[in-house]
Amino acid sequence: MTQDELKDAVAAAAIDEIRPLLGSQIIIGVGTGSTANRFIDRLAALRGDFRGAVASSEATAKRLKQHGIDVFELNEAGTLPVYVDGADEINDQLEMIKGGGAALTREKVVAAGSQRFICIADASKTTSILGGFPLPVEVIPMARSFVARELVKLGADPVYREGTVTDNGNQILDCYEFLIDDPKVMEARLNNIPGVVTNGLFALRGADLLLLGTENGVERKE
Ligand code: A5P
Repeated sequence: MTQDELKDAVAAAAIDEIRPLLGSQIIIGVGTGSTANRFIDRLAALRGDFRGAVASSEATAKRLKQHGIDVFELNEAGTLPVYVDGADEINDQLEMIKGGGAALTREKVVAAGSQRFICIADASKTTSILGGFPLPVEVIPMARSFVARELVKLGADPVYREGTVTDNGNQILDCYEFLIDDPKVMEARLNNIPGVVTNGLFALRGADLLLLGTENGVERKE
């Protein structure tokens, strides 16, 4: 199977997973990226079965609206029953690196505001140690060089993602050469650097369920 076919398979599995939760008052959280986009495209067929969605990015909001799905602000939606999103890397503890698409801050907020996080990913995203994928850190622009120096002190090789402005008007530093032994500790440590808005470690609030696309079908891990 191609990677695209694996992404399609996990998107379909996520639809099956959330279908029993839907109802006229239900608002769900929707992630960002190529795997999440496949989920959104399938969600369109269920449009009349739920109230709408909270989007984790402007791109996702646009795609949801193009399908006629109502988009709500998290402020008005309250706690969401479920959030569905992809990942750049995921380990056996269902801790992740996210933010390859620069949507990490809103993704982390919507995930934290949801009762259940379903991660959809193809098998290429699994790893035993997070950090093979460069860890994104969102920073306010005036703090970029300071934060980069602090990241070097922690052992990372941060690279400014030139030309990228996040939905929140901020910038991204991608941390290369940064294998992470204890994701929960590192997530908290990075959050404590002044000027950091969010880091792409999703460990303190990881996924509750992974739907993993493999050659043998979609595997469930929780
Ligand atoms: C967006 O910022 C990311 O966190 C995505 O969720 C992640 O990069 C997965 O994207 P793909 O499904 O395109 O691999």
